This record gives sequence, structure tokens and C-alpha cells, in this order.
Amino acid sequence: MVDSTSEGFLSPRPSSLSRSDFIASYGGIYEHSPWVAEAAWDSGLGEREDTADGLAGAMARALEAADTDRQLELIRAHPDLAGKAAVAGELTADSSSEQASAGLDQCSAEEFERFQRLNAEYKERFRFPFVMAVRGQDRHAILAAFERRLSNSPEEERRTAIEQINRIALLRLHERVAAG
Ligand code: GUN
Repeated sequence: MVDSTSEGFLSPRPSSLSRSDFIASYGGIYEHSPWVAEAAWDSGLGEREDTADGLAGAMARALEAADTDRQLELIRAHPDLAGKAAVAGELTADSSSEQASAGLDQCSAEEFERFQRLNAEYKERFRFPFVMAVRGQDRHAILAAFERRLSNSPEEERRTAIEQINRIALLRLHERVAAG
């Protein structure tokens, strides 16, 4: 008998939830932006969306359908990596866990300085923060990506940020499945 806690399925099952219960459970998958979950629910959720991959797809499509200003607002809702909010303990639980998994809470003074300089340079150039799905990455790879992405065009970088945000959401949903 298959029940709602079966392996591979999100719990609670998205397709079984009212709009408000769905937002209560999944509104935080996109950082400080429950409107993505609202738009996904409004598009209609079925059994396919009861898996991490299925729901991630529906949410990514809802985001893709949003206008550029809304997408920029979402990018700007992300905290800096190894930034002031992290030091002040003001991150969401997900962001805090992601940054710690990449060792960003253990930067040396020099690495921390380097992150502050890159964060400032990146925001000066693109007018939004550097976003990268950092779970499972290390500081070295993150700093290398940071340097590389600084030479992208603004349009490329906006698209890259949205791709990375969709990847962060997918990883968050897989974490939910693993946590049961
Ligand atoms: N990658 C995973 N989580 C985050 C986050 O909260 N902020 C940024 N900038 N990148 C992330």
C-alpha cells in the first residue's frame, strides 16, 4: 500500500493541499518569494508534482512565465554568500544550511575579505547579488565561478542567476524528500 510518506514523494503531497496549506509548506522554496509557489499552485498541481523533480519543474515554469522585473526582484531577494546577513545570523534556515555545507561559515579572514570584494564588485556591475547553488560545492569552486561570471554580459548573468535559483529550489525539494 502506498501512503503519503512513500519514498521519493514530497510530504505533504503538493497535489493534496489547499492553496494556503501549499504555501505554508512550499512557499519558502524560492528565497523570500512565496509568489513563485502561488503561481505554481494556480497553474494546477497533479500527481506528477508530488515528486521533487515534478514540483521543481512546475515552479521553474511559473518563474519563467513571470516578467523580467519580477525575476530581478527574486534574484535580489537572495543574501550575499559569506555576507553581512550570514555573519549576523540573519539567513533563512535553508540559506544558512547551504552556505555552511559549502564551508562558507568557516572562511579565513583573507577568504572572507575576498568574498566581500567580489560581492561588491559583482553588485556594482550587475545591480543584483551573485547567486549560485552552493550546496555540495567548496569555497575554491565558488570563488572560481565568481571570478568567471564577473565577465558575463548582464543578460547572460540574469539568465544564469535564474538557472541557479531553479537549481537551489530543486536541491531544497530533494532535501525535503530525504527528510521525509
Ligand atoms: N546558493 C544557495 N543558497 C544561496 C543563497 O541564499 N544566496 C546566494 N547568493 N546563493 C545561494
